This record gives sequence, C-alpha cells and structure tokens, in this order.
Amino acid sequence: MRGRVSGTFSVIHRDASCGARLGSLKTPHGEIETPIFMPVGTNATVKAMTPEDLWAVHAQIILSNTYHLYLRPGHRLVETLGGLHRFMNWSGPILTDSGGFQVFSLGELRKISEEGVKFQSHLDGSYHVLTPELSIKIQEALGADIIMCFDECPAATADYDYVSRSLEMTTRWAKRCKEAHSREGQQLFGIIQGGMHHDLRARSLNEICAIGFDGYALGGLSVGEEKEQMYGVMESCAPLMPQDAPRYIMGIGAPEDLVEAVWHGFDMFDCVMPTRNARNGMLFTSQGRINIKAKAYEEDGGPLDPACGCHVCRTYSRAYLRHLYRAGEILASQLNTYHNLYYYLDLMRRMRGAIRENRFTEFRRDFYGSQTDNHV
Ligand code: GUN
Ligand code: ZN
Repeated sequence: MRGRVSGTFSVIHRDASCGARLGSLKTPHGEIETPIFMPVGTNATVKAMTPEDLWAVHAQIILSNTYHLYLRPGHRLVETLGGLHRFMNWSGPILTDSGGFQVFSLGELRKISEEGVKFQSHLDGSYHVLTPELSIKIQEALGADIIMCFDECPAATADYDYVSRSLEMTTRWAKRCKEAHSREGQQLFGIIQGGMHHDLRARSLNEICAIGFDGYALGGLSVGEEKEQMYGVMESCAPLMPQDAPRYIMGIGAPEDLVEAVWHGFDMFDCVMPTRNARNGMLFTSQGRINIKAKAYEEDGGPLDPACGCHVCRTYSRAYLRHLYRAGEILASQLNTYHNLYYYLDLMRRMRGAIRENRFTEFRRDFYGSQTDNHV
C-alpha cells in the first residue's frame, strides 16, 4: 500500500462571495485547471471526436470506463499495447470510473454481495465477478492518471435502511481498493454515497475521508431525483469535505448544475449530456438549448450560436446543421459534438475567470438570466 500522493492539488484562489475555488491538479500527463469538465470517452473514444478535436475544444482531461474496456477489448490487451493513453492516442490526463456505476445500471443482469458484483455482459451474456480488487487491477493496467474506488450506487428508489447498509459496504470496499492499489503516480479517489439523506451523506463522507484518498467524489447523484434535492446534497456535503483535496461530482450535469456545483465549491465533473445530446440534435448555446431539427432553422443562414467562438459556429449555418441532422449524416454527430463540448469547456473557462476576479456570484446570477428556454 502506498501513501497519498501529496501536493498534487492546490487551491490557487477562493472567490470571496461564495464557496467557489480555482485550483490546479497535477497528473503524470499534465496539469489541470479546476473547476473542470471531463468529456466522457466510454469505449476509449469520446464519440465522434478525434484526439485532435479534443485538443481543439480545449479538453484538459477525459473520462473512460473500466466496465466497458474490461469486457472489450480487455485491459490486458490495452496494457500490452502500451496503456490507454497510447492505445487511443490521447496524451493528456485520463480518469477511469471503477465500473461500479455501470454494473449497477445492468438491472436484472447483476447480483451484489460483500465480495463484489456478479454480472452478465451486456455484449454476449457471459458471466463475470467484479470486485474492488479486480476493479483496481483493471484500472492499474489501463494506466489512467486518476482512478476511482469501486462503490455501490443505490437506486433512487432505495429505502433509508438499504442506503445505510449500502454505504457501509461502499466504505469497506473503499478500504479494500486502497489496500489493493499500488501503481506509482496514479491517484485514487474515494466515492461518497448516502442517497438524498443528509445524515447518511455525512456518515459516508466521514468514513471515506478517514480512510484518506487523493480526491473525493460525490456519487449517487443525477439518478432521477429533483434538482433541488441534488443541490441540497451539494450544499450539505461541501462544507464537510477536505479543503485541500479535489472534489468531484460524478455524472453531472446540465450547464446550470455545473454552475451551482462550482458555486458550492466542487472542482471536477463529467457527464454524457453534451456528447449524447449532440448526437440527438440538442445543442447548448449562450441563450439556452435549441433543437437543430426544428423547422424554424430550415432557412436560417446564421451561426448556431453567434456568441460562440468555435469552428462550427464560425463556419456553418443552422440550416446546414439541420440538413445534416435530418439526412442522418455522420458529420452531424461530429459537428454537433464539437460545438457542445466547446460550449461546456468554454463555460468552465468563463467560470474560472469569474472566480479569479471574485465575481462568481454575479456570474451565476447573469447565467440564470441568460437562459431563455424552459429547462432552467
Ligand atoms: N457515475 C455517476 N454516478 C456514479 C456513482 O455513484 N459511482 C460511480 N462509480 N460512478 C458514477
Ligand atoms: Zn460553437
């Protein structure tokens, strides 16, 4: 067992008006400015984006998944070919999720015990057992800069007793993960569970922080709860978390969720929303969301978002993007994803600028004022 990698994260500045902070996180593949959003690259690719595209939209770190890469093409193959960075030709930082969340999403196909989770592959129905030790072994073989503990993410419908027993098991699994982890220079983050119950969140938080990790994540959010409940968990957890370690909220969110989380003092985020929604024609703009399918854009020769500086907005018209989408062209997914990721990463950059100048509370107010659609 190795100790905490010390001095990799530092808070550079705290906004005087709220919990928001500006930070720097050092990894073997480069330094990340926080708050940051991590594009999701489940199958060792951020769908529809080459690594060159990712650099162009200023991605600083991407996320990939243990569960998917273990099943296909297999972590041993990736390791033999030089690790995940080399395999996918992404030389920037990578974070891998532990597989916990993905396995729990399988529903009927899985069985949970103290040892781990027995599940059937969504690809071919074959049986596997994923344990905390195996998850760490896979993540070490993949070679990400930051890896996650194997946890249980209870369903939103789980009752208080279930969530309570589940978080205790997640704590025992976290200890086993730390014990199993030995890869030099690779950071291991702990995951806090506890559902929507503030007392259970506090218990999980204290137990996970007592074990000691390089960073701390809130799991079990964005699982179908109301936004107010999610924001309530952020508000109750942030003040209890270590000040000097990165704070990550897993699987969120919509732009307004990121603004809210940064305001409370969280540093890292990931979500499929910008990439998945792009492939469905839903695009984020400075004025809110638009659906590029809409008839209103049929003859619209203007840019997707006049306020966006991305290559897509500087080059193509709404009418062309609508046409590509309707024609089912591959380029629709590419251009839409490029813009949405640029929007998310630019939003994070603007948030960092506002924190630096102690005007994040103002930024948050202006942000809500700027969104004219029905979603916020
Ligand atoms: N991604 C989104 N939520 C979660 C969670 O609760 N646990 C893990 N491991 N990954 C997640
Ligand atoms: Zn754009």
